[in-house]
This record gives sequence, C-alpha cells and structure tokens, in this order.
Amino acid sequence: RPPGWSVTADVVVVGSGVAGLTAALRCAAAGAKVTVVTKARLDDGSTRWAQGGIAAALGDGDTPAQHLADTLVAGAGVCDEAAVRALVTEGPDAVRRLIATGARFDTDDDSGEILLTREGGHHRRRIAHAGGDATGAEISRALVEAVRRAGIETVENALVLDLLKDARGHAAGVTLHVMGEGQHDGVGAVRASAVVLATGGMGQVFSATTNPPVSTGDGVALALRAGAEVSDLEFVQFHPTVLWLGPEAEGQQPLVSEAVRGEGAYLVDADGVRFMLGQHELAELAPRDIVAKAITRRMLEQGAEHMYLDARHFGAEMWEHRFPTILAACRAHGIDPVTEPVPVAPAAHYASGGVRTDLHGRTTVPGLYACGEVACTGVHGANRLASNSLLEGLVFAERIADDITARRPWDTPAPAAAVPGSPAPAAAVPGSPAPAAGEPLLASETRCTIQRIMTAGAGVIRSARSLDEAAARLEAVHRDAVEELHRDGKTAEPGVETWEATNLLLVARVLVAAARRREETRGCHWREDRPERDDATWARHLLVTLRQDGT
Ligand code: SIN
Repeated sequence: RPPGWSVTADVVVVGSGVAGLTAALRCAAAGAKVTVVTKARLDDGSTRWAQGGIAAALGDGDTPAQHLADTLVAGAGVCDEAAVRALVTEGPDAVRRLIATGARFDTDDDSGEILLTREGGHHRRRIAHAGGDATGAEISRALVEAVRRAGIETVENALVLDLLKDARGHAAGVTLHVMGEGQHDGVGAVRASAVVLATGGMGQVFSATTNPPVSTGDGVALALRAGAEVSDLEFVQFHPTVLWLGPEAEGQQPLVSEAVRGEGAYLVDADGVRFMLGQHELAELAPRDIVAKAITRRMLEQGAEHMYLDARHFGAEMWEHRFPTILAACRAHGIDPVTEPVPVAPAAHYASGGVRTDLHGRTTVPGLYACGEVACTGVHGANRLASNSLLEGLVFAERIADDITARRPWDTPAPAAAVPGSPAPAAAVPGSPAPAAGEPLLASETRCTIQRIMTAGAGVIRSARSLDEAAARLEAVHRDAVEELHRDGKTAEPGVETWEATNLLLVARVLVAAARRREETRGCHWREDRPERDDATWARHLLVTLRQDGT
C-alpha cells in the first residue's frame, strides 16, 4: 500500500531506548528537526529492563585502557579495537552528560560519589547503577522526560516497515504502520534525509528471553531488505542467570542481574556444589559466555533443568535495598532469595551482531545509521562485556548525531523518494517491502514455531546437525507461506503481529546461516561439533546481505 499520510523531518529516529533518544536529543540540540517513531510506547523497549547498570571507567584508579582490555578479552578475538577504544574513552563523559540530562545514579551518602559494582568479565568495580537494580528504567525516564521537554515530535505505536530511498539509493525516510495515533493512523511515511535505526534486539527469536515482546529484529530485517550489510548475527548472548520458571515458560523471563554475583552471590549445582570455582580465575564473575556454558554443561551432567544462585548471605536488608526489582520478581513467583537459593538457567539476552556500521554509526546504505543493539559497531565481538550495551547506545548515538549534524544532508536537495507500492522505483531498489516483492506476510502464530525451532537448533549449544535441522525447518515455514501465497493468493493481514513474525523468520534464517558457516566455537557461539576456537580461519566477521530475490 502506498503511504496514506506523510510527514517530513530532517532526521527520523526509529526506536526510543537509550540509543534512539540520545541520538534524537543531540540532533535536536544541534538544530535538526527530529521525529522519533517507536513501535509501542516510548519506554517499552529493552532499555527499561536493564538492571545491572552502565559500565564506564569512572572509579578511582580505573582507566579506559583497563576497560578496553576487559572488553577485548570478553569479545574473544573479534572486537574492532578502534570501536572499543572510542567506547571506553568517550564513555565516562557520555555518562556524565546523561547525568546532566537528568538520570540519577546511586551515590554514596557521605561522599556523593557514584557507587560502582562489578559484573562478569570486569576486573574491577566499574558499573554505575540506579534504583539498586533498575538502571534502565531510570535512564529511560530521564531521556523520555528530556525528549518531551525538548518538544521533539514522537509517534508511538508505529511499526517501521521499510526504508525509503531516493533515486541515488540514499535513505530518504521510512514507511510505518501506525495504530490508533490520530492523524498518523494507518500506513504512512516519515521522509527524512537521515534515518537512525535504534530498534533494539531480536531476543524474541528464541522461546525464552530476557527481552520484552517488542524485540523482534525489525531493524535488522528492514536493513536486510534495504540492502544493508549485517554482521556477527551468530553471536547471540545467553544470559547465565535468568529466573527459571519451569520447562514450559516462554516469552520474556525475569533477569537476575549479574550484579547479584558482583556483590557476592554463588552459583551452586543440584548438590549444592559451587561449580564455577576452578573453572576461571574470576569464578562466578567470568565473562558471560563462560558462565552460561558452565551452567549448561552442569545441567546436562546432572540432568537438571536449572542451577541455583545462592545469595541468602546478603540478608533481607541488602536484598531490599540493593536489588528491590529482582527481589520483587522472585517473590512474585513464590521464591524468596533471602531464605532460599534462586533457580536460574541461561536464556537469550543480547544480539552482539546486527547492522554493520563504521565508527560514526553509518551503515553501508548512505544516510542510514544504526546504533544500540540493532547495530554491529564491532565493540562486542563474539561476546558483549556486561553493561557495555547501555554505554554503546550512548556513545555511538552521540557519534551519529555529530556526523549527521556536521553533514546536514537536508540542506542538499535530493531526488524524489521512492515510494513502496509504486512498482517502478520500489521494485528496482532493495528497500521495497518484502511482501510487495512476492514475499508473504506470515500468520502471527508462526512466531511460536520459529521460536521453538531456534531454541531447539540454534540455542546455547549448537552443532552442524542441530543447525541443519533448524535451517530446514525454517525454510519449510518460508516455503509453505510462499506456496500458499502463490497458490491461493493468501497472505496474512498486515498488522504488528504478522510483520513481527515475518521479520523474525528473516532474521532467524540469516542467524542460522551464519551459525552454520562459522565452524568453530568462539564467545557465545558454542558448536559442540567444533569445540575449539580456530583463529587461523575464523578470527574475522561474517557479513551478510540479502540478494534481490530474497535469498
Ligand atoms: C545484568 O544486569 O546482568 C545485565 C547487564 C547486561 O546485560 O549488560
């Protein structure tokens, strides 16, 4: 369908977590007319759920060089060092600017200094937190309020569909499906000469995840359809300690922050044995991939469905003061961490890969930028260091805003934009909506099928066999939908759920293709049939672009 409504801005930001709102605020402060579009409400993305905090070399004696070293070790040999250097050197001031914007971090009552905790892979206390374990919620509150104060236009309940391009192939805006937002209802477009993707992750591609329901890989799917390069999708981080709610639990699961281990909680197995001792010099605070693997191995050895996190020694006061969110979540599920160990198991948490960018957040499509979890800046390598994600969102959003406002592309008249739905230009450019190019929209129930296939075949432990099977089953889902479209002319009704299912299938297929290709174990990509890291062949990135025929 051609857009029914259209608005114009200098910059359109898609997504409203820490990355999107930081980019929007900084572009607007430099005089750009910005529109923020977001799939649900402004604070419904992953940022709000971040618990542990934001990592930066803020403490006495800490340095960006030490933060760099810890990040590179966690990234298992495939971080881009220049990107990590930008992250860790610009990080401390970016956090200070966030505080100036209104975010309130926990501070020492006497000195007023920011309190810092530890998490996996960090050799020192480096994680600033807010509300004990509600860091993301505080950051989200502060940024949403700042965006409102700045008078930036926002459109909520706006599912992004596809990228618009001008005749040169430059980004020229996005098409959207908006539900129930007055003048912007239905399919429409925001035209802009700079498009910032900040749509978050794709945790919903698995059955159990810490990600909210909106994390369906929409940005990566859009970028693929627009011809942009995507990288490192095989590196899905599984958080080691997610509250275990039974074998049937699906969808978003409660996180038990690594900061709980940072403050001294132990992991114990079904026999009460502290099994991380002797596995790594940092024991429970080893990098996240190592802890997730150790937990999974022990579960397999013991035939157990979960392990335990024991922090009874914290006592009630510390639990209430330091980890109120986690305490409430556990108690809501009938578990009292003050008196009993908490059952935990790994679940999908973070996409270390995404839309490939350079140091300024530029993707391979001119005018299209990406930041936050949707992006692959290269800072995370094969395994993101704990609490580097909020920091990456901040630092690279600022870099993007600086690049856009230095270039001011809206000052250069662009050729007319391609309109999806009008076959002439839209069919010729990658960026035309997938369903319009003969691809079906999937029924919303397909989401569950995809999640189960991915959990069975491309989860914490993978092998050629499990991945081949996942690939075949995903292809069958796709083939069935294509056949139905061609045979009966039937496709699902356009809407958020059907677009989400369609996007999930696309990112799942690419993720599995990358995981099959990387025949080694590295970081959070664990191939039991290729258990060694193979630096001679695989110390590099896997880049993916979608061909015109959708393969
Ligand atoms: C946590 O609090 O454990 C999550 C922090 C992160 O994902 O970096």
